[in-house]
Amino acid sequence: MKRVAILISGSGSNMVALAEHMLAGTVARPVLVLSNVPGAGGLAKAEALGIPTAVVDHRDFAGDRAAFEAALINTVDHSAPDAICLAGFMRILTPKFIGHYEGRMLNIHPSLLPKYKGLHTHDRAIEAGDAEAGCSVHEVTADLDGGPVLGQARVPVLAKDGPEDLAARVLPMEHRLYPMVLERFLAGDRSRIDLSSSLSINDVSP
Ligand code: GAR
Repeated sequence: MKRVAILISGSGSNMVALAEHMLAGTVARPVLVLSNVPGAGGLAKAEALGIPTAVVDHRDFAGDRAAFEAALINTVDHSAPDAICLAGFMRILTPKFIGHYEGRMLNIHPSLLPKYKGLHTHDRAIEAGDAEAGCSVHEVTADLDGGPVLGQARVPVLAKDGPEDLAARVLPMEHRLYPMVLERFLAGDRSRIDLSSSLSINDVSP
């Protein structure tokens, strides 16, 4: 049974999708949900699923990123994970941290990478007039949001969409994609998965 640690900062809906998928199967188990934000909504959800939780609050380290990351590594390594999933973990990690877990760490990002690395991805897709948006699961390397893409899911952008509409259309696809990619990754399979939402741009009147 593979051991998976999940790092979150917020509501943890991707963490729940990953954990429920693992708990329903026999391949992997979630062994830790760690948040850098005390009181993050995902912590209570993890506890409800019976998963050990931890908080490493970046604010306790007063700008000392090396000390924050050392504490993160200490806590994560204590759970002896085979893989680490970043799931809405909103701290930038240094090459030192990433190097420690290289080849074992995945991230989900709410854009069709390599488009829109960083923040405000849905605003930027709408602003650019893109016909499609989506999400990507990639291996984490020292290149921010730039590691090899292992899966993408696409949704249409509709004429009246605001960023919240788009986020609401992309998020359920994140929940489908991430567990599928994780399962393959744990089996040593890095072949790419591509999903499209069943909603076609032609099905919807603007
Ligand atoms: C998700 O949409 C995820 O793709 C995004 O944060 C959200 C977390 O939601 N991640 C990033 O923007 C990473 N740069 P969740 O806490 O409900 O899973």
